Amino acid sequence: MLRSKITGTGSALPEKILTNSDLERMVDTSDEWITTRTGIKQRRIAAEGQFTSTFAVEASRSALAMAGVKAEELDLIILGTVTPDFPFPSTACIVQHEIGAVNAAAFDLSAACSGFIYGLSIADKYIRCGDAKKVLVIGAEVLSRVVDWTDRNTCILFGDGSGAAVVEASQGDCGILSTHIFSNGSYWDTLYQPGCGNRNPATSEQTIAERLFYIKMEGNDVFKHAVRAMEEAACTALSANGMTPADVSLLIPHQANRRIIDATAKRLGITEEDRVVINLHNYGNTSSASIPISLDEANRSGRMKTGDIVLLDAFGGGFTYGSALIRC
Ligand code: ACO
Repeated sequence: MLRSKITGTGSALPEKILTNSDLERMVDTSDEWITTRTGIKQRRIAAEGQFTSTFAVEASRSALAMAGVKAEELDLIILGTVTPDFPFPSTACIVQHEIGAVNAAAFDLSAACSGFIYGLSIADKYIRCGDAKKVLVIGAEVLSRVVDWTDRNTCILFGDGSGAAVVEASQGDCGILSTHIFSNGSYWDTLYQPGCGNRNPATSEQTIAERLFYIKMEGNDVFKHAVRAMEEAACTALSANGMTPADVSLLIPHQANRRIIDATAKRLGITEEDRVVINLHNYGNTSSASIPISLDEANRSGRMKTGDIVLLDAFGGGFTYGSALIRC
């Protein structure tokens, strides 16, 4: 049976670390508040001269090296991001140029924190229908440039970085078993960046006066919906494959908040620490990059063994959510 299979993963993070103690000096907050409400201890922040494409290129090179795939063999590059280098051209085209993927079509995809799962879903469909053999899927963000560093409700949550995966056509039982993606646009203004699109152009006086270029979020609403939606996406993946949570060797959830992850894992009955990948204490919420960074860390540290069932589970602004079930 023709399937798609992840054959290489990579990730890249800025060197600069911003700790909760650093944030205590910037806004009225405390390490204790941030740790108990979110689980985050530190996040990585891009330096001047580093962009979303900087990290996407580094993560992509690393994923290609692991897969043993040359850039010119790629048919498609899909890059999930809400913080592209420019509104246009796509950051995916910049990555294509930088890595020399001269035969690939390249585009960006906007699905907030679900961007990597949406991209993986498209890659899987392209491969299964025979239109592509090798696809590079990337999640990459520099959220630190759209975070209001005077707003304690949001600035504690986010970080920068990128993760990438090479997805190839493969025969057999291993690979991506299914992907499911969902949207609920009725909550589009619960988590969004009001400025810099054409409703509130970057140049308008209102955008500047009301600081509309920064992320705005109704944290409590996001929290409630995130848990329900991630449970729904996970259960859909499992039932589509005739499986139950007991079959899952490793859950790789979007890294937004430790309490969201714990509540989702508890609802699924996946409570053992070694069955859930958690790294948000190190990186905060890196949006579309969070799942591929976690996937790469799990892969490189030997947490994904042949035959293991791995469940990727995402939720983000839009709202968007989705899952991917993989047999290693
Ligand atoms: N430090 C200290 N106090 C703070 C901070 C802070 N950084 N931020 C807010 N507070 C205060 C609030 O002002 C409020 O004070 P008040 O009661 O005097 O008004 C109090 O703490 C409680 O605020 P809540 O918003 O009710 O706190 P809550 O327990 O809901 O935690 C949080 C807030 C962490 C944002 C939580 O709602 C959350 O994680 N939501 C999910 C949002 C998320 O993860 N978004 C990321 C993007 S979406 C995604 O990726 C899934």
